[in-house]
Amino acid sequence: MLVDNHGRHIDYVRIAVTDKCNLRCFYCMPEEGIDFVKRKELLTYEETLRLVDVLSANGVNKVRITGGEPFLRKGIMSFFTELASNDRLSKIAITTNGTLTEGHLDELIKLGITSFNLSIDSIDPKRFNDITRRDLFNTVWSCYEAMLKKGVDLKLNAVVMKGQNIDDLIPMVALGRDTPVSVRFIEEMPFNGGGDYTPELEWNYMKILEHISSAYPNINKLKDAKSSTSLNYQVEGYKGTFGIIPAYTRSFCGSCNRIRITPTGVLKTCLYDSGVFNVKDIIRAGATDQQLLEAIQNAISHRALDGFEAERNRTGFGPVGESMATIGG
Ligand code: GTP
Ligand code: 5AD
Ligand code: SF4
Repeated sequence: MLVDNHGRHIDYVRIAVTDKCNLRCFYCMPEEGIDFVKRKELLTYEETLRLVDVLSANGVNKVRITGGEPFLRKGIMSFFTELASNDRLSKIAITTNGTLTEGHLDELIKLGITSFNLSIDSIDPKRFNDITRRDLFNTVWSCYEAMLKKGVDLKLNAVVMKGQNIDDLIPMVALGRDTPVSVRFIEEMPFNGGGDYTPELEWNYMKILEHISSAYPNINKLKDAKSSTSLNYQVEGYKGTFGIIPAYTRSFCGSCNRIRITPTGVLKTCLYDSGVFNVKDIIRAGATDQQLLEAIQNAISHRALDGFEAERNRTGFGPVGESMATIGG
């Protein structure tokens, strides 16, 4: 078992397989993109699978694959096939923007990969295209409908942004009236890849909840899973649910069960930290599995208590501001 210095069990790893993205959500990266990682700087699939082997032999049972957009990385389906053959994992989940995903759904379901978090910040085509700076709403919506039809475990992610998608909150909650979908509204965080965009982080958890409650007075609080990022609710009589993720308020750090690997192989013990060590470097220097495990154990035995402490302790990087595509969310 991996247990951190605050007694929290680590059983979940989030792996960002690429920082590349075919959208340009303005809260995540500037229009011109970021300085994308070169192929040889990526943690290879083989190295990633070895890392997952070591982690899963030590209590990690959930892997989430993120990006950038994971389906942009070459060979991703063979990687999923290999990953799915690890029977110590009880859950493999994917966070995707839904632009390239639909055609892979049947194969993924056959592999037993049935949990998808779909990023969709607006269900209004114009607003969606404005936010993502691309014209792919119809493709994403088609993916959403295919996911519903195939009955996968589906969560929608919408980052709540002042002056952008506030008019979506009520209609997005309404998606749950007849469909078993979980719609999650996320506090915006300043991981935006620089450029000239400065977020106004006004729509915090309370404000989002008050706004939704004013339209839906009959909301019930649900019991949240142990390490859930979202506080979850259901409108009475609805099939689906909605949730709010206090990602910037960071009120769920006390039960945090996750570590992260960036596309270049940096291990992060908190979303807000600046990285602890590079898995790729130690693997390429010839580390044994035992040495890899010891490096991970050492990292989690010096873990920040919460996202605020992790942010204060950042070295080199300065304040948070890197693109979320370089971290994986
Ligand atoms: P599950 O718990 O596996 O369902 O996933 P998730 O909701 O944590 O993952 P997802 O990739 O869908 O991320 C949704 C939002 O939560 C994104 O904005 C993430 O950046 C944010 N998030 C995920 N994990 C953390 C975390 O540990 N801390 C903070 N502050 N935000 C997080
Ligand atoms: N703040 C909050 N969430 C973000 N995401 C990307 N950038 C940010 C940000 N600055 C979300 C994406 C995706 C998830 C992995 O992280 O919308 O759903
Ligand atoms: Fe791409 Fe996701 Fe960033 Fe949008 S949030 S630009 S979909 S990585």
